[in-house]
Amino acid sequence: MIKVPGHIEEQIEKLVKELNYHCYRYYVLDSPVIPDEEYDRQYRSLKELEEHYNYILADSPTQRVGAPALDKFEKVKHAEPMLSLDNAFSHDEVRGFDERVRRLLKTEGNVEYTVEPKYDGLAMELTYKNGILYKASTRGDGYEGEDVTVNIKTIRAVPLKIEAVDVPEEIDSRGEVYMDLREFEALNREREKEGGPAFANPRNAAAGSVRQLDSSITVKRKLHLACYGIGAVKGMDFKSQWEFVKWLEKARFPIPSMIRLVEGIDRVLEVIKEIGEKRNTFPFEADGAVIKVNNFELQKMLGIKTREPRWATAYKFPAHQGMTKINEIIASVGRTGVITPVALLEPVRIGGVKVSRSTLHNWDEIDRKDIRVGDTVIIERAGDVIPHVISIIKDSRTGNEKYLKKKKKCPVCGSAVERDDGVVAYRCVGLNCPAQVQERIRHYASRAAMDIEGLGEKNVELLFSSELIKHFVDIYKLRKEDLLGLPRFAEKSAQNLIDAIEKSKHTTLARFLYSLGVLHVGEYAAKVLARNFKDIEELYHVKPEMIIGIRQIGDKIADSITRFFNDPQNLTTLKTLKSLGIKISNLF
Ligand code: IVH
Repeated sequence: MIKVPGHIEEQIEKLVKELNYHCYRYYVLDSPVIPDEEYDRQYRSLKELEEHYNYILADSPTQRVGAPALDKFEKVKHAEPMLSLDNAFSHDEVRGFDERVRRLLKTEGNVEYTVEPKYDGLAMELTYKNGILYKASTRGDGYEGEDVTVNIKTIRAVPLKIEAVDVPEEIDSRGEVYMDLREFEALNREREKEGGPAFANPRNAAAGSVRQLDSSITVKRKLHLACYGIGAVKGMDFKSQWEFVKWLEKARFPIPSMIRLVEGIDRVLEVIKEIGEKRNTFPFEADGAVIKVNNFELQKMLGIKTREPRWATAYKFPAHQGMTKINEIIASVGRTGVITPVALLEPVRIGGVKVSRSTLHNWDEIDRKDIRVGDTVIIERAGDVIPHVISIIKDSRTGNEKYLKKKKKCPVCGSAVERDDGVVAYRCVGLNCPAQVQERIRHYASRAAMDIEGLGEKNVELLFSSELIKHFVDIYKLRKEDLLGLPRFAEKSAQNLIDAIEKSKHTTLARFLYSLGVLHVGEYAAKVLARNFKDIEELYHVKPEMIIGIRQIGDKIADSITRFFNDPQNLTTLKTLKSLGIKISNLF
C-alpha cells in the first residue's frame, strides 16, 4: 500500500471540506457559490487522489454514490421509540389540543409552541457518532426500523459529518425524507412512458426510493430531507425544540422550510392559516401543520399515550379536490386480467400536482355514481390514494354525455370477460392477452420471483414488441444472437441476460409458485404452500380439500390455486418449463 504523504492527507481533507460545504450551499441553502463545473472538477481531483492513495474519509462526497445491492435490510432498534402524531381536523380540535395541554400542565397562561409544515414523506432517524453519520434507519413499527444508511447517504442534503457546531458524542436526529413535486411528476411521467405503474403520491415515491435494496436506484431519485426532531442524545443538553432546530440549522442540516415559535393557541392558528395559504407554493407536498410544545421539560411532563406524544399534534388540511371534465374512459388490463376503468381527464392541478387520470375502480362504481364520458367531476387527490372521482356535477350536463357500456370483450385481446362470484371486478380470461402476458413476464422475472436480472420492464417490453417472447416459456428459448439484433443489446449485455436466465433455472418451490402469478398468491402464500407440498407435481390436479385445511391459506387462495392447477393449458406450460431445464428445489 502506498503511504499517504502528510501534504496529500491535508489536500484530501481540504477538498472534502470544501466539497461538502458546496454541497450544503447547493442542496440545503439552495444558493451555490461556485459553478457546477468547478464542483465537478474538484470532485474529480478528490476521486483521483483517493484512488491513488487509497485514503478515503468517512464524510467524503465520493461515498454518496451508492454501494452494491443488498439481499435485505438489517433491522435497527431505535434508542428512543419513534412516535407517530395525533391528528386534528379543525381549528376547534387544535384548540382542544391546547386545552388538554394546559389542563395537564395545570396552567392558565399561554404555552409556547413551534409550528411547521407536515411533510408527506418517510420518517427517518439519522444516528451520528462523534459527528459522523453512523446509521440511517426507517421508522418501522416505531421501535425497530430498517437500516437504509447506504441509500440515505446518496441524499446530498444529508450531512455525512456534523460541522460548524459543538458536536455531541452521539445524537439521533430525525426528519422526513421526501420527494419534491416536480421530481415526483417527472418520475411518474418516466414510469408511465415505460409502461410501469405510477406512484400514487410523493410519499409512496419517497418510500419506494428509500426502500430499495439497490442503492443505484435511490441515487437517481432526487430526494430531500427536512429534520424536525430529536431522539437519544449523549453529551449535550437541549432545552427546547426551538433550540434544537436552531442547532440543526447551524450544524448544516436541512430544517423545515418554515418554522415559527409562537405563544398561545391563537397565534398557532394564525400560523396554520399562513401555512395553508403558502402550501401551494411549497415545492413539496405538505398535508398539514405540526404543532409541538416547545419546552422539553414540559414535553416530558405531558408524556406519551401509547404511540403518540401528548405534546404534539398534526393539523390536517382538507383533502385536495379539483373540478375537471372526463374526456374519455379507457379500460386498463392488469397482470391478473382484472379490467379497471380509468377516466382520462382534462388535466387539472390539484395541490400542486397535475392530475390527468383517475381510477373509476370498477363498473359497479360507474353505475352507482352514474359517471359518463363528458361529465364534469370533482376529483380528490387525498394524501395516500390515487386520484378518484368524488362526485359528478349533474347540473353541468349538456345531454351530450355518453354512457359507457360494460365491455363484453377484453379491450386489449378481445377475449371473453368474466366476473367471479361476489367480486365487482371483471377479468379477461385470455391467457395470452398481451396486456397480461407482458405483466406476467415482468412479474415472473422480478427479484422476489425468478430474479432474472436484466429482464425488467423496459427489456420485457422490447422483447415482447420484437416478438422474441410471447409467453414466459419463451424466456428460456432466447439465444444471444436474437438479442444482438436488438437496439438495446451489445455483446456484454446480451451475454449477461443469457447468463441471468440460465442462473434462474435453479430456484425454490416458493419462488416458483410466486412467479406464476396465480391470483391472490403473493410471496407469503407461496412460502406457506411450499411448506405443505413436496414438489410442484404434487399440485397438479390438486383438489380444494387438499388446500383448504392449510393454516393461513384462505378460501380465495385455495380456489385460485385449484383453478390454476386444474387448467390443462397451465399444466402444459409447467411441463414445458420443466423440459426447458427449470430445477425446483424445496428446501427451506
Ligand atoms: S414530529 C412525536 N414533525 O408525520 C413527533 N413529524 O403522522 C413525531 N411528519 O411519523 C414526528 N412532517 O413521519 C413531525 N414536521 C414534522 C413532520 C412529521 C411529517 C411525519 C412523521 C411522523 C408522521 C406522523
